[in-house]
Amino acid sequence: MKKAEFKERLSQYSLDILNPENFHDKLAPAVMGYADLLFEEFDLDSSAGRTHIQTLNGNAIGTFWAAKCIREIFRTQRFSRALYASVLGVKDENRGPVHVLYAGTGPFAALALPIMMMLPPEDVQFTFLEINPESIEILERVIDLFDLHAYVKNIHQCDASLWDVPSSEIDIVISETMCRALVAEPQVAIMLNLASQLPKEVVFLPEEIKVSLCKLSGNSREPQRIAELINFNKASMYAIIGNSPMRNWNFDDQDIQANVSEDDQLYLMTEIRINEGNTLDLEESSLNLLEKVKVKKRQGMVNLNIQYSLDKRPGFKIIER
Ligand SMILES: C[S@@+](CC[C@H](N)C(=O)[O-])C[C@H]1O[C@@H](n2cnc3c(N)ncnc32)[C@H](O)[C@@H]1O
Repeated sequence: MKKAEFKERLSQYSLDILNPENFHDKLAPAVMGYADLLFEEFDLDSSAGRTHIQTLNGNAIGTFWAAKCIREIFRTQRFSRALYASVLGVKDENRGPVHVLYAGTGPFAALALPIMMMLPPEDVQFTFLEINPESIEILERVIDLFDLHAYVKNIHQCDASLWDVPSSEIDIVISETMCRALVAEPQVAIMLNLASQLPKEVVFLPEEIKVSLCKLSGNSREPQRIAELINFNKASMYAIIGNSPMRNWNFDDQDIQANVSEDDQLYLMTEIRINEGNTLDLEESSLNLLEKVKVKKRQGMVNLNIQYSLDKRPGFKIIER
C-alpha cells in the first residue's frame, strides 16, 4: 500500500471513530480497521513485545499488549473523542497551537492519530512520553509512515511517573495507563507527578476515575454501591499533592462496614469520565471489569480498612478487622 493510501484509510477510520454518536454501524469496523492497518504494517508479535516493564509505580505493559489496546472499541472511541473535544475547546482560547502531553503512547500513539487526521499541525502539537524503547522505535516509524513529523514536538523515553516536566507550556495531559480498579499500572502516579509540576488550568484526561466498593447478590448483575473509595479528579489530585511532601503521594484511608449475606460477593467497580459526554461504565471496556474483593467473613457486618497505595503493584490495600 502506498503512503497516500495509508493516510486515506486512517482519515476515514478517524472520522468514524470521532463521530459523536455513541453506537453506530461504522464504529466497530473503523476501530478494527484502524488496528489492522497498523498491525499489518508493524510486526509486534515478538517475545520482547510481550514483556512488561516493572517500574517503581506499577507495570508498563509490553509493546504487543499496548498495541492491542486499540481493539477495545469503546475505550478507543471515548478517549480519542474526549481528546479531540478538549483540543477544540482549548483551541478557541489559545493563540498558538494546543500542546498535548501524551503519557504512555504505546507503539502507535493510538489516541492521538485520529486528532492529527482532523486538524493541521498549526492547531495541535504533541509531546509523547513512553517508557518502552521498543514502543518508541515503532512509534517513530508510524510517524514516518503517515508523515506526521510536523505534529510532534518531542518524544521522550522516560518513566512518566518520575519525569521532570521541562516546560509548563502544556494545555492538555492525556494518559491511559490504567487497569480496572486502578490496580497494577501507574495511572495515578503519572497524573500526580505531572499535575504537581503543571499550572492548574491544564486539562487532565480522564477528568475523573471513580472506584467504589460494591456487592453483587446471588445472580444479580447490578452492583450495589457500598462506598466510594476514590474519586480521582483534578480537585482530589491537588488535595493529594497538597498533603504529600517530596512527591511521596499519600492517600487517605477509610473504615467501611459492609453488610453481607452468604450469596453476596464484594467487588471494586470502576467508572471513568474521560470528559463531558465520554464515559466508560461497567463492562464497557476491560478497564471497567469488576475486581473481586476477598474477605474471610461470609455473613453479617464486615469491617474493612481500605487505602489506595502506590508501589510496584499499586492498588487498594484492604484489611479486614
Ligand atoms: C495501556 S497502554 C496504552 C497505549 C496507547 N496509549 C493506547 O491508548 O492505545 C499504556 C502504555 O503506557 C506505557 N507506560 C506505562 N507506564 C509508563 C510510565 N511510567 N512512563 C511512560 N510510559 C508508561 C506502557 O509502556 C504502554 O505503552
